[in-house]
Amino acid sequence: MKVLRLVSDVREFRIASATASLGFVPTMGALHEGHASLIERAVRDHDLAVVSIFVNPTQFGPHEDFAAYPRDESADIAACERLGAAMVFAPAALEMYPPGDATRVQPGAIAERLEGAARPGHFTGVATILTKLFSIVRPDAAYFGQKDFQQLRVVQTMSRDLRLGVRVVGCPIVRDPDGLAMSSRNRYLSTVDRRAALALSRGLFRARELWEGGAREPDPLRNAVVRYTDGTGVSLEYVSAADPLTLEELVRPAERAVVSLAARVGKTRLIDNVLLGIRLEEIA
Ligand code: PAF
Repeated sequence: MKVLRLVSDVREFRIASATASLGFVPTMGALHEGHASLIERAVRDHDLAVVSIFVNPTQFGPHEDFAAYPRDESADIAACERLGAAMVFAPAALEMYPPGDATRVQPGAIAERLEGAARPGHFTGVATILTKLFSIVRPDAAYFGQKDFQQLRVVQTMSRDLRLGVRVVGCPIVRDPDGLAMSSRNRYLSTVDRRAALALSRGLFRARELWEGGAREPDPLRNAVVRYTDGTGVSLEYVSAADPLTLEELVRPAERAVVSLAARVGKTRLIDNVLLGIRLEEIA
């Protein structure tokens, strides 16, 4: 497996492999089983799988955890090799944002709600780095986890709108056996916080049970999460029941929905969601 640091080397790699189909998994490192499932899928679906490891400064707000974001590059590279990736691209910040860099990619309305409202500028940073990475790596398909569901929809919309020619594939959330969605930020959780965080997936699973029992009004779905997290030490930032394609908040009964949440557990901010009435593969 190659580890490349320079854009020019990645371009050469892609020229040399021009006839191979390439699956791409962009990451910020601190890889866990959720990332592993994306890399395995890219390896399975393509001649070559490429992983990028880059903690992207422009998607963090001024008071967010950019400096503290977990970094363990040698463990990440070893994991990529074990999983069968052909190449890891791990650039320095100046390689991706050279001196004088000023261009930004501004996604549309789908990026303004939920995470976009809670973290102003976040999706502009995500769209900008992914536009750069897609143009450097030139993948046929790129793989994203459902946990960051709005990110998946923003990137699918961006790839379509900008005619990037990259198929953006959503992959299921990987959960610990007790239900907690895997996240690089879970390693910030104390034992007490981790126990409290279980209320999040339990609330979402309760919303899914209600849906399976025939509930179609959005309020009971949102309320299930609120009720499960009440008094648990988890502080909900938002709970949403939205259309899974547009992410517009539902105001009447619907035949498909994504119930999503963001919450603070101690100092850690977590997100999670469940998809109802539509399969992930139908979302493109
Ligand atoms: O989901 C992430 O880890 C990041 O947002 C991504 C897609 C690698 C862009 O920096």
